[in-house]
Amino acid sequence: MKKVRIGMLGIGNVAKGTYRTLELNREKIQASTGVSIEIAKILNRDISKDRGIDIPKEKYVTDAYDIINDPEIDIIVELIGGIEPATEYMAAALKNGKHVVTANKAALAVNGRMLQELAQEKHVMLRFEASVAGGIPIINAITTALMSNEIDDILGIVNGTTNYILTKMSESDADYNSVLKDAQEKGFAERDPSGDVEGHDVANKLSILMSLIFGVGILPKDIPTHGITSINKVDISIATELGYKIKLLATAKKIGKDVECNVQPCLVPASHPLSSVNNEFNAVFLRGNAVDDLMFYGKGAGPLPTGSAVMGDIIEIAKAIDKDSAFDRQPLLRFDADLRFIGEGRNQYYIRLRAEDRPGVLGNISSTFGKYSVGIETMMQRPAPKGDNTTVPLVFIVYETEREVLDKALAEIIENKHAVSVDNVIRVED
Ligand code: HSE
Repeated sequence: MKKVRIGMLGIGNVAKGTYRTLELNREKIQASTGVSIEIAKILNRDISKDRGIDIPKEKYVTDAYDIINDPEIDIIVELIGGIEPATEYMAAALKNGKHVVTANKAALAVNGRMLQELAQEKHVMLRFEASVAGGIPIINAITTALMSNEIDDILGIVNGTTNYILTKMSESDADYNSVLKDAQEKGFAERDPSGDVEGHDVANKLSILMSLIFGVGILPKDIPTHGITSINKVDISIATELGYKIKLLATAKKIGKDVECNVQPCLVPASHPLSSVNNEFNAVFLRGNAVDDLMFYGKGAGPLPTGSAVMGDIIEIAKAIDKDSAFDRQPLLRFDADLRFIGEGRNQYYIRLRAEDRPGVLGNISSTFGKYSVGIETMMQRPAPKGDNTTVPLVFIVYETEREVLDKALAEIIENKHAVSVDNVIRVED
């Protein structure tokens, strides 16, 4: 039986999930592929540290190049995360003629084009199913079964950590920090959780999806991105009262030759299927011009679900090695579309302000909105929070407008002292 040898860079949550998935299903994998897959070497910079997994010590190496330059290794599995040195390691492995599997959305969103070109030049595979939505095989679906479709709409919950935090905050009185800690302990959160809670992880994933689906190379830094750090219990309770759930959404739309996209928390109507995607679950909505609406749902984070996606890529490559078949069959990031990037587009928004509770305040605020043609759909005033006798929270839902225009109106409201602060602006998904 053909033996395929893996060198794994990293021994974090996803790496352990990958190792465990192979151990769990080794016989099944061998029987269905006819290949024996061995994780032969693992990069572990601190061998003395207890990793909470039983792995023979002789597999560990402390220098990545002991793996990358080993002629016996067929596939490098990069699971250290972050842009560097991950990109350097992947590029070196591809140049050495090794296949690469990665879960690294940050490195792919920025350096995917260069890495893919290297892979093509060397006729090896670069596969990255685990980089978007963890265990959901969304990249496989887009690049195989859905190839006959023109897809114009992407809407997704693609970060498990933030979905977990928002779910727990809406279900209980748990505060933000304790829920974040819980998510870290469960292995969902990135090493630096600011990437999750500030929305950058979602922007990386959206950038990859837009390249696969629309054929555009939009860097994550150019995607308007807002995280969940400004969401508090007041927003969650008002949203519930108004019939919405708050979810961190990745949105991209192709309208003719224009493309708009953004990452931000959104008020999603309770009747919308995305509103019932809870905890670390992810969901991606797509609309194809032949297949119509599709929703992919599953665990988007966590060691075993993500390990399952990594193993899927390893198996695809192992089968190709065994059959000596062409290595050009791989998901392709595309950069060929001639589309104009138009930012966030027009949306409805929820706005929470703090203002003095005196006659004339509401009139001033609404005439400033009027001056910028921002129409008000709903308005509510909440009682002053305990310990604050001077200001009250005011909440508005406004009709579709451009974010830039709304921001100008809000800046003028503050400048003219009609309100004390703008505490939150959240997009409303219709
Ligand atoms: N930190 C990510 C998440 C892991 O919470 O979804 C998967 O990319």
